[in-house]
Amino acid sequence: MAKDSKKIVVIGAGVIGLSSALLIQESLSLKKENYEIIIAAHEFPHPHTTKTSVNYASMWAGAHLRPIPASTPQLEREASWFRKTAAKFRSQFPQEPWLGILPLRGVEYLAVPSEAYQNLVRSEDTFTKETALENLRVLNEKELPDGVALGFEYDTFCVNAPVYCMALLRKFLVRGGKTINRNLKSEWEAFSLESNVRLVVNASGMGFGDSKSFPTRGQICLVSNPFDKTITRQHKDGTWSFVIPRCFDGGTVIGGTKDVNDWNSEPSLATREELFRKAVETFPEIKNSAGRIDIITDVVGRRPTRVDGMRIEAEVRQEGGETRSVVHAYGAGGRGYELSWGIAGDVAELVGRELREQSKPVSRL
Ligand SMILES: Cc1cc2nc3c(=O)[nH]c(=O)nc-3n(C[C@H](O)[C@H](O)[C@H](O)COP(=O)(O)OP(=O)(O)OC[C@H]3O[C@@H](n4cnc5c(N)ncnc54)[C@H](O)[C@@H]3O)c2cc1C
Ligand SMILES: *[C@@H]1O[C@H](CO)[C@@H](O)[C@H](O)[C@H]1NC(C)=O
Repeated sequence: MAKDSKKIVVIGAGVIGLSSALLIQESLSLKKENYEIIIAAHEFPHPHTTKTSVNYASMWAGAHLRPIPASTPQLEREASWFRKTAAKFRSQFPQEPWLGILPLRGVEYLAVPSEAYQNLVRSEDTFTKETALENLRVLNEKELPDGVALGFEYDTFCVNAPVYCMALLRKFLVRGGKTINRNLKSEWEAFSLESNVRLVVNASGMGFGDSKSFPTRGQICLVSNPFDKTITRQHKDGTWSFVIPRCFDGGTVIGGTKDVNDWNSEPSLATREELFRKAVETFPEIKNSAGRIDIITDVVGRRPTRVDGMRIEAEVRQEGGETRSVVHAYGAGGRGYELSWGIAGDVAELVGRELREQSKPVSRL
């Protein structure tokens, strides 16, 4: 492509940056617009878990699709992104089985279910309307472990996180996308990476300069024992147990903690033992025939969380007679995978709107 071609830089190669970059490519090629799309990131997808930092959340996620009732405005917005992602995974799986998406049953055991949860599973119809997931079955009392008040199961998906991100990156490159490996000091620095950068997407996970952003530490353990469904249990004390298999022999995730504002990047052995104890209590089949759980590695990751949820917003500045737009897309917290295609759709739409604004003859500032 010509050196002076118009460019869009997406900061971040996590699930949000990659999904957004792909949908931006698609929407621009539909409109036959000639932009070069570049992903600039400090870290890129890596096949070996443990080779990337705790800050790169997308390498550490389980990741399963687990619906949360839309009981607040933020959760309502997220529920609509969730539905889009569930629908997209359903169509992607048969078409692109190599992506790393695994369809399977999801099981939930809740110790203290809110009314919103009771309403969510009132009927299969309401459930499917709210979540785009199918085949709900509410468990009867005899099927529930001790101390569980509500249990249900449904058809859902798990994602082998590193495999999936590598697959998205490959797709982006095959379509002509470029990458730059760089640790940026500011989203505005991205305008100087190449000539003629018209727009920057800030999908950097955590907005460190944003006072609403904070990390939610997650400690999980990747084990080699296979498992054939994903189970989530809410305990009375507010802690959670979950098991998430990764397809293509990627092992099984046993989790997990949600430690708000905890910057500790080291896994704790005591925490691992506690996770295993609760796991065996809820899903004893995780042990192999020798009664063992075989550890691949302990994992700590930081969920890029934000008060009020994801920031999707354009910021425009005039610099050197030029209009510069940044589209922010960070703060997915613990739900980046299950919301990814919905978020990316909104980001691509906002990018389209900003480019149209820029091409108007009169500046709006
Ligand atoms: C233990 C754990 C379990 C999880 N389970 C689930 C789950 O079951 N389901 C689910 O949906 N989600 C889950 N998540 C959450 C999910 O991982 C995140 O929401 C998601 O990965 C966020 O993606 P992201 O692209 O916004 O950020 P990240 O994956 O953190 O990517 C950020 C990108 O920006 C780059 N970057 C950042 N700063 C700079 C800079 N200054 N210069 C250049 N590049 C920069 C990074 O290098 C990286 O490429 C889990 C997370 C953890 C930790
Ligand atoms: C993304 O934007 C936020 C808010 O302006 C900022 O704190 C953060 O540093 C930006 N990310 C990058 C990589 O520039």
